[in-house]
Amino acid sequence: MDDMRIIRAKDYNDMSRIAANIIAAQITLKPDSVLGLATGSTPIGAYKELIKKYNEGNLDFSEVRSVNLDEYKGLTKDNDQSYDYFMKENLFNHVNIKAENCHIPNGIAEDDEAECRRYDEILEKNPRDLQLLGLGLNGHIGFNEPNDHFAKGTHLIQLTESTIEANSRFFESYEATPKAAFTMGIKSIMQAGKILLCVSGKSKAQILRDLIHGPITPQVPASILQLHNDVIVVADEDALSLM
Ligand code: F6R
Repeated sequence: MDDMRIIRAKDYNDMSRIAANIIAAQITLKPDSVLGLATGSTPIGAYKELIKKYNEGNLDFSEVRSVNLDEYKGLTKDNDQSYDYFMKENLFNHVNIKAENCHIPNGIAEDDEAECRRYDEILEKNPRDLQLLGLGLNGHIGFNEPNDHFAKGTHLIQLTESTIEANSRFFESYEATPKAAFTMGIKSIMQAGKILLCVSGKSKAQILRDLIHGPITPQVPASILQLHNDVIVVADEDALSLM
């Protein structure tokens, strides 16, 4: 497990600070970095820290390119629950990243298959220097849900009940929560030069343990990270409580 470094953070804020420092170091060392970005609750604190560093004049996003992991099927960009909206709200609108350098799947693409191929081409042109990941309660990364195989490229996925349930906290009801999403495939995630996985909270303790110590299986999609040679896990004490 030499290729997986685990950094123990005290709590969510500490995790966010450490993750932001790693991302900032990446941008400082390589101003035209390609960042793979994630949404969800986990990275919000790290994005806040990055905005702070930018406002203090310590970080320049002018040459940074970004590709996001996923987007809900059926949500327009101006829907406040779309991941496009989330990224603008939580990061892009507050730093000097160029809009044309930010990529995210189009949730309302007419042709699902064509959208997946379009996004794969974007990924090919933008090899990620650093991929930021959160961890789903069921071990998903991006929206690669537990499955009998590891998906390679971008695909449309039917979300599992556990994920819809978890996501429903942001929607009016379970019914109103999207049931499908476009997601980057496992192979694309694994192609990133460096992976930064952030995990916070007791609810993630068991799955974090499975991902680090369990068998590599598509039933725990994140377990594939054991095969990547440069993974940094930044997890707080609650998330590490079963280790
Ligand atoms: C988000 C994503 C998901 C989340 C995961 C954890 O772009 O790809 O894999 O990272 O569902 O979500 P939170 O952080 O809300 O617990």
